[in-house]
Amino acid sequence: MRYSEDFIEKVRAANNIEDIISGYVKLQRKGSSYMGLCPFHNEKTPSFSVHPGRQTYHCFGCGASGDVFNFIMEYDRMSFQEAIVSLANRAGIAIPENDVTPEQKKAASEKTRLLNIQKDAAMFYYYKLHSQEGKVAMKYLTDRGISVETIKHFGLGYTGKSGSGLYGYLKKKGHSDRDLKESGLFTFNEAKNTMQEKFWNRVMFPIMDLNRKVIGFGGRVFGDAKPKYLNSPETKLFDKSRNLYGLYLARSSRAKSMIICEGYMDVISLHQAGFTNAVASLGTALTSQQAALLHRYTKDIYLMYDSDTAGIKAALRAVPLLRSAGLNTKIVDLKPFKDPDEFIKARGREALEERIKKAENGFMFEIRILYESYDMTDPQASSDFYHEAARKLMTFSDEIERNSYVASVSRMYNIAPEVLKRQLGKLAMQGVRAEETPQMTDKPYKKKENKTGDRAEKILLSWICQKPETIDMVREYVGSEDFSEGLNRIMADSLFKMYEEGKFNPVSVLNYFEESSEKSDAAAIIEGSLLPEKEEDFNKAIKEVMLSVKTASLERKIENLPLSDMAAFQRVMAEKKNLEEMKKNI
Ligand code: CTP
Ligand code: MN
Repeated sequence: MRYSEDFIEKVRAANNIEDIISGYVKLQRKGSSYMGLCPFHNEKTPSFSVHPGRQTYHCFGCGASGDVFNFIMEYDRMSFQEAIVSLANRAGIAIPENDVTPEQKKAASEKTRLLNIQKDAAMFYYYKLHSQEGKVAMKYLTDRGISVETIKHFGLGYTGKSGSGLYGYLKKKGHSDRDLKESGLFTFNEAKNTMQEKFWNRVMFPIMDLNRKVIGFGGRVFGDAKPKYLNSPETKLFDKSRNLYGLYLARSSRAKSMIICEGYMDVISLHQAGFTNAVASLGTALTSQQAALLHRYTKDIYLMYDSDTAGIKAALRAVPLLRSAGLNTKIVDLKPFKDPDEFIKARGREALEERIKKAENGFMFEIRILYESYDMTDPQASSDFYHEAARKLMTFSDEIERNSYVASVSRMYNIAPEVLKRQLGKLAMQGVRAEETPQMTDKPYKKKENKTGDRAEKILLSWICQKPETIDMVREYVGSEDFSEGLNRIMADSLFKMYEEGKFNPVSVLNYFEESSEKSDAAAIIEGSLLPEKEEDFNKAIKEVMLSVKTASLERKIENLPLSDMAAFQRVMAEKKNLEEMKKNI
């Protein structure tokens, strides 16, 4: 649900940033701001500042910055929407009902009913597991080394032997047939008009969303019967591609990284052994939505996929997918064991920690698997390998990063770095460019930015925020369309608009961005670059910055000029002339 800007501002105004943050961090007054130890990175001397005037925070050590919403999002690992609700609750502000459309209301109440069914079913299964009938399932779980506490922690259950009363139980709880048909727990036989339980004689793993609400189940047979696992179908509640098993626990583990494994039992064993940052995708390959979800909590992933060929294949798919979501991935070798569950059982927690320390860089893993697929005694095959490796190296758009991988690859595979570099150069000449492999580039709004132009734009925005009285002058020369698309333009647009409407409050620009990384980029702009001390210096500096912004904007326009549009061409040329004039006046 989206909240209105008025509501968001009301919540912001009711939550003083210094009050909120001092609930988490010990702050000391220093002039007009407060300083403390940064909660987002390890430090011994305080470099975390809170600015009550601007209602922002900024860490000079790690660069974390933002407003009160950012802080809660980062610290409590919440989405923007969740942070709003949490702060509204703290301030005792009622969540507005009229922000909800009638359709949303209807959907919400259906959702609540469907969630209640899942919750009741989980209770039913849980009791079954602890009943006489459930003894066999309980034995199965404890034989697999799962403790009673872990069973409770994950809410594991048992269906009962065969179709043993879930339907009757849920009916008695007051659920309608219509809702039960939507629940994914039954198969409806139209001819006979009966509801058959989908799961029977299985151990049940409730799947919960980020709010700890049951949204579906996985069920495992005890023996070797097939299928080994059966999962809830996708329902209005359960979208497999957007959820991860165990994430509701892992997200508050406070570990710096996340572990992704394949199975329910792997997650459970890992958590039981203290690796409370483990999650699994739900019987499907990892999706980009899941990667984006993980990116909310971490930048570093350890993959603990099965050590068989299927697991390697899955890892080869996952590494670039995670990379394109901005995540660094390392591969943990579990051999000779099949999966984390078996590894832990055989070797224990410390041995796994050792393996984590030795985990292989995701890119080097990709190259190694590639290497192993070629017969290097064959000259053609080995030259193919180097070509393919060079092609993969091209996908790093950052030169420093690329060079460091070139060094690693050449060291590892005994090839002179110059040879590899020459190959990269050749590929570049052929037009194979880093940008053509989109998975390696940054966030979309950063994709095509011109570095100096972008910097000038950000400085200009920052100065506008801090010296609103300059806006009139700036707007004589620069319009919001002169800022590059994405973050900068959105900021320029909204700042100009606010100024026109006479309510200039830069911090509220943050409401335009939902992504935490965008929010903190925007916050960094608002926080600001330093202003030159003397007024005349400032006037000269701001003109130079405007000039850079304008020049970059014009270059973009020329680049994108349709060849056939004479009028547009003339307009741009006129602008170019104006710019020359402007240069003379500075
Ligand atoms: N899976 C599934 N359907 C199957 C088999 C597997 O959905 N028929 C999913 C489940 O989420 C399972 C995961 O894939 O947890 C991994 O499957 P697998 O490696 O076969 O099983 P394990 O996790 O090793 O399960 P166990 O240890 O219980 O044998
Ligand atoms: Mn297993």
